[in-house]
Amino acid sequence: MSAVRSSHWDVLYSEKGEAQTSWFRPHLDESLRLIDGLELPRQAPMLDVGGGRSTLVEDLLQRGFTDIGVMDLSAVALDETKQRLGACADHVHWLVGDITDAELPSGYYALWHDRAVFHFLADIGDRARYAAAMAHAVRPGGYAVIGTFATDGPEHCSGLPVARYDASSLASEFAPEFEPVAHSRDMHRTPSGNEQAFTYVVLRRRSDVSNA
Ligand SMILES: C[S@@+](CC[C@H](N)C(=O)[O-])C[C@H]1O[C@@H](n2cnc3c(N)ncnc32)[C@H](O)[C@@H]1O
Repeated sequence: MSAVRSSHWDVLYSEKGEAQTSWFRPHLDESLRLIDGLELPRQAPMLDVGGGRSTLVEDLLQRGFTDIGVMDLSAVALDETKQRLGACADHVHWLVGDITDAELPSGYYALWHDRAVFHFLADIGDRARYAAAMAHAVRPGGYAVIGTFATDGPEHCSGLPVARYDASSLASEFAPEFEPVAHSRDMHRTPSGNEQAFTYVVLRRRSDVSNA
């Protein structure tokens, strides 16, 4: 794991409350709408990549999902989220790590979720490592729900440059192992009142293509 990368996020989470982070919203509504549409069984293993302090984990627990992992570079963010959950935190798998070099179980997850993480990967090698990790860890027939800034979204976030995607360019980052099954556009209103356009894709892990 890159110490520079993780310390950027640890410092940010230590210094800023939720309302001071542009990506905060009380619930990840668009992610939840897309996840609900998949009608996954309650025991389906799920991983929220770069979950940070988001409330997705509570919303998934509330829906009755029993096998939820939350991964993030920032131990500070995960500690805050654990504290917020109280005793429920014991029902979640917490992983501190960099998704571009994470060791994940093979073919395990039925759902991979990422809101506002992949777009920070400006380096082509990092994007390839992320895509390979996803292809390795998601089971055949499993899904990925990924939300990034849209082509008319911001060019920077939290002091870092970001890549921007439409549905086609985002899905192509994960081909051929994943095929697109749905996409949407979401307008996020930041806590300070600005609008940020997001592209979401729902991808399915093909069973006829093994990982590279
Ligand atoms: C903009 S925040 C989004 C947080 C959360 N997904 C949400 O929607 O509220 C990006 C998160 O990704 C994490 N992150 C950034 N790069 C990462 C990487 N390479 N591996 C794992 N997590 C990463 C950061 O620590 C941060 O929590």
